[in-house]
Amino acid sequence: METITIIREAETLSRWSQIHQRAAKSVAVVPTMGYLHEGHLSLIRAARAQCDAVIVTDFVNPTQFGPNEDYAAYPRDEAMDIALCQAAGADVVFIPDVHTLYPNGQDAAWVDVKDLGDHLCGASRPGHFRGVATVVMKLLCISRADFAFFGQKDYQQLRVVQHMVHDFGLPCQIIGCPIVREPDGLAMSSRNVRLSQEERPSAIALSQGLAAAHQAFLNGERDARQLTDTAASLILPKPHAQIEYIAVADPETLEIFHHQIPNRAIMLLAVRVGNVRLIDNMLLE
Ligand code: PAF
Repeated sequence: METITIIREAETLSRWSQIHQRAAKSVAVVPTMGYLHEGHLSLIRAARAQCDAVIVTDFVNPTQFGPNEDYAAYPRDEAMDIALCQAAGADVVFIPDVHTLYPNGQDAAWVDVKDLGDHLCGASRPGHFRGVATVVMKLLCISRADFAFFGQKDYQQLRVVQHMVHDFGLPCQIIGCPIVREPDGLAMSSRNVRLSQEERPSAIALSQGLAAAHQAFLNGERDARQLTDTAASLILPKPHAQIEYIAVADPETLEIFHHQIPNRAIMLLAVRVGNVRLIDNMLLE
């Protein structure tokens, strides 16, 4: 196994990519906030299978956390991340510090994608998607990647990033990869480690609620309210679980359906289990 290269400076990463691109090699980037799990590794493997050179970025981005959110408590383990990236076949791990990505300060320049980022998760996390779009723009520019891989668990994030890349005409193709789940159905997330043993059964109710709504959809239910009620009925009774939102939306525009839904839609939800905020989604088709 080749030893992985660790890069901390923006210029060094740009140069590394340029060298590969001049040799007609395609460069992939997998943006992460570290504390890698099987979901991230599936993205790295997909990038490895599709591209010649694979960069993983490992950076807990402060600008996408609100003042009362878990930036300080977000789990971090650089040594573990490097070992996992190497095992999954990445060539480079880019581990910048805050000054490297925000050389002029965290409030100096923003990318704000209107409409797509203001509702659903954006409603309870104002400014979150502005922080995500800004850091992803920086990572795409610095890495010069031809392809960037994102998980569909963060579906709204994926749509915001796709919209931004399209709107700015960035020369990068965004690839959305399927959600990876634990054997009990819980969508993989770095935050899962913060669930207590007692909270875990409540967390599993998210995917159970989505599966029940999907079954109702397959049985012909097309009323948005009935579908969200079906999902909620499995989550609400669980101890420690507080629903933030459950919605059925258009998979492209994320416009929320309130009544009759078409034959292709997406159900998205966010639920707080104790102190841990979890999200999940499922295509209804
Ligand atoms: O999905 C994440 O881990 C983050 O939001 C991302 C895309 C790496 C930006 O910080």
